[in-house]
Amino acid sequence: MDIVSPAINDYLLAHSEPADEVLRDLAEETHRELGGAAGMQISHDEGELLTMLVRLVGARTAVEVGTFTGYSSICIARGLPDDGHLLCCDVSEDYTSVARRYWERAGVADRIELRLAPAVETLRGLPTERHLDFAFIDADKAGYPAYYEEIVTRMRPGGLVVLDNMLRDGRVLDPQSDDDRAIAAMNAALLADERVDVVLLPVRDGVSLARVR
Ligand SMILES: C[S@@+](CC[C@H](N)C(=O)[O-])C[C@H]1O[C@@H](n2cnc3c(N)ncnc32)[C@H](O)[C@@H]1O
Repeated sequence: MDIVSPAINDYLLAHSEPADEVLRDLAEETHRELGGAAGMQISHDEGELLTMLVRLVGARTAVEVGTFTGYSSICIARGLPDDGHLLCCDVSEDYTSVARRYWERAGVADRIELRLAPAVETLRGLPTERHLDFAFIDADKAGYPAYYEEIVTRMRPGGLVVLDNMLRDGRVLDPQSDDDRAIAAMNAALLADERVDVVLLPVRDGVSLARVR
């Protein structure tokens, strides 16, 4: 299902801040070297949204679950101040070796820390106080409830948790797989969670914003 028509998607991209050379090269290399897996990369308009949200929140401390070749992490890091910190969680040395190269090119390597381990282990090892301002969840769908729970308890009041692929190409209306069911359940859980205010946006495959009260 096209949540937004391809023509409107093109128009959205044409009327949002354009990708610079680093992001264009990263998207091109990811598609050239990884083929179908490149579909995991966020779109540029979603990346611009992440940068803007990080700035609007005034975030200094951020976490990302699911880094892949680095597109979203660069967009988040660019929204942080020079002394900001982004913790990236992934399990793939191969994918994130590409990200490391592009972090250097983008000039944000000094504010990014990568931990290669199952994300739930990394998150459980973080300090338990409320120290996070911004989080982006974009990894294995079955893991979302655990990632969200570990993150939301560590968010500062006013912090923002952003979750990707919350429409599953429209299949949340009629879930076809365990991953679809996990996301449909996550949407219901977010709405019922009194710790956050939530809005689900039709950006690409659906982006949920959960602002911590
Ligand atoms: C959809 S991609 C992330 C795309 C990325 N946000 C971007 O903008 O290009 C999902 C990533 O989650 C990682 N991943 C899958 N299972 C994971 C787990 N249990 N813990 C941490 N990362 C995981 C994969 O290696 C992959 O790089």
